[in-house]
Parts: sequence; structure tokens; C-alpha cells
Amino acid sequence: MSILDLFRLDGKTALVTGAAQGIGFEIARGLAEAGAKVIIADLNPATGEQAASSIGASFEPLNVTDSGAVRALAARLEALDVLVNNAGIVRNVPSEDISDADWEVVMSVNVNGLFWCCREFGRKMLDAGTGSIVSTASMSGLISNHPQPQAGYNASKAAVIHLTRSLAGEWAGRGVRVNAVAPGYTATPMTILGLETPEWRETWLKETPMGRLAEPAEIAPAVLYLASEASSFVTGHTLVVDGGYTVW
Ligand SMILES: NC(=O)c1ccc[n+]([C@@H]2O[C@H](COP(=O)([O-])OP(=O)(O)OC[C@H]3O[C@@H](n4cnc5c(N)ncnc54)[C@H](O)[C@@H]3O)[C@@H](O)[C@H]2O)c1
Repeated sequence: MSILDLFRLDGKTALVTGAAQGIGFEIARGLAEAGAKVIIADLNPATGEQAASSIGASFEPLNVTDSGAVRALAARLEALDVLVNNAGIVRNVPSEDISDADWEVVMSVNVNGLFWCCREFGRKMLDAGTGSIVSTASMSGLISNHPQPQAGYNASKAAVIHLTRSLAGEWAGRGVRVNAVAPGYTATPMTILGLETPEWRETWLKETPMGRLAEPAEIAPAVLYLASEASSFVTGHTLVVDGGYTVW
């Protein structure tokens, strides 16, 4: 077997949350190219349907914060080999001013929703005795971004990194690996506001040793590595893809 075959996902089913656009869409595209049957699960049916049909994937409307809906979708799927927890949101509000609702929605999507998916799809994988879960964390789980205020987002991504380690330990002996990627600033609809704010943009570029943002397609290969047999002895790991941001 060639080493390149380890990166193939032929015959496997992969579900990617929040994949109607941005990083998730490029992950879905990459996994499909590697041979997986891909399901895009997203809150937004308009963009989701279109994204899915453009790469030969199927679409499932899903709000990851609705644990009942996550459970129902898991029950409907025949099998699931790869779960990519990518849905995530940010609120850039100073901590002294943030509303309960803004704090809670970030935690609800980034932590609770991600956990509901791990629990419901993970149980299916445990029953099958095999599976790979990859979550999109962020370098924000390792450092505190500036100048934009986003304490809740940073805390939520730190939770994703530690949840990854915790679930990996629980499930390692039962055939299910759990890993994460931690992207740095990436050019997607999420970062448009920052790119249009001169002080944010300047700081982001100055503090990234490579001097630029990532393209979403630069995150996808790291996810493919963790999703596939290429990483068969890797679990509990967070792979940083940040153009060097966290070295300074
Ligand atoms: N863009 C960056 O610089 C960056 C850096 C590090 C990590 N990330 C993380 O990468 C992931 C993707 O970010 P992006 O920049 O592509 O964001 P994006 O805003 O461009 O796309 C997010 C997608 O998630 C979907 N979504 C939002 N809430 C959802 C929910 N409750 N249920 C299901 N789907 C939902 C949206 O409809 C959208 O399609 C997020 O977890 C984000 O935190 C982004």
C-alpha cells in the first residue's frame, strides 16, 4: 500500500457541520475529493444546498445547538466514519458590555452544540467500533486575540481543545479517535469585519509571522490527515495551522 493511500477515504461517510461556506466548505470539498461520501450539515439551507450540490455532497439542515435534532439525524444515518465539528460563531463585544444572550449563543454553538454532535455521532461510532472525530478549534483556544474583544469565543475554543483530549482518552480503547485543528486567522465571512477594520487587519498581519491570512483550503489538508488512517496512532491532538502566530 502506498503512503498516499492512507489519506484516502473511499467508501467512508463523513459529516461536516457548518460547511455551507468558509473553512467547513473547503473541508467538505477536500474530504469528497479524497473519496468520502460527504454530508454537509448546516443551519443555512439556502447556502448549504448549493454548497453540497457543487461538490456532489448531500445536505442536511441542522442546528447543532438542538440536541434532539442531532440525535434524530444520527439515528437516520446508516453509518458514520468521520465527523467534523466545524460550526462555530464569534461575538466581538467587550466583556464588560456583553449581554447574556451574546455570551450564551457562543457557548451554545461552539461548546454545547459541538458536544451534542460528539455524543450522538460518537455513540454511533463506538457501537461500530471505529470512527474519527475532528473539531475545528482555533488558535484562540491557545492565545488571547487582540485588538478585538472576544473573551467568550476564546474560552469556548479552549474548551474544545480540552474536550478533544478528554473524549480521546475515554474512547481511545474503543476504536474512536478524537482530534482538533486550530486555525489562525483565515479569510472567510467570519473575518470580513476584521479585515475591513484597519486597526484589526494591521495587527493580525503584523502578528502572524507569515504576514498573511490563511485561505480556507489551507486548513482542509490538516483535517484530512486527522480524519484518515494517515493519523491512525494520533488521538487527543490539536494541530495548529496558524502561519506561526502562536510562536511569538
Ligand atoms: N475564520 C477564521 O479566522 C477562523 C479561525 C480559527 C477558527 N475558526 C473556526 O472555524 C470554523 C468555521 O469558521 P468560518 O470562518 O468558516 O465561519 P463562517 O461564519 O464563514 O461559517 C460558519 C458556518 O457555520 C454555520 N453555522 C453557524 N451556526 C450554526 C449552527 N448552530 N448549526 C449549524 N451550523 C451553523 C453557518 O451557517 C456557516 O455556514 C468555526 O468553528 C470558527 O470558529 C475560524
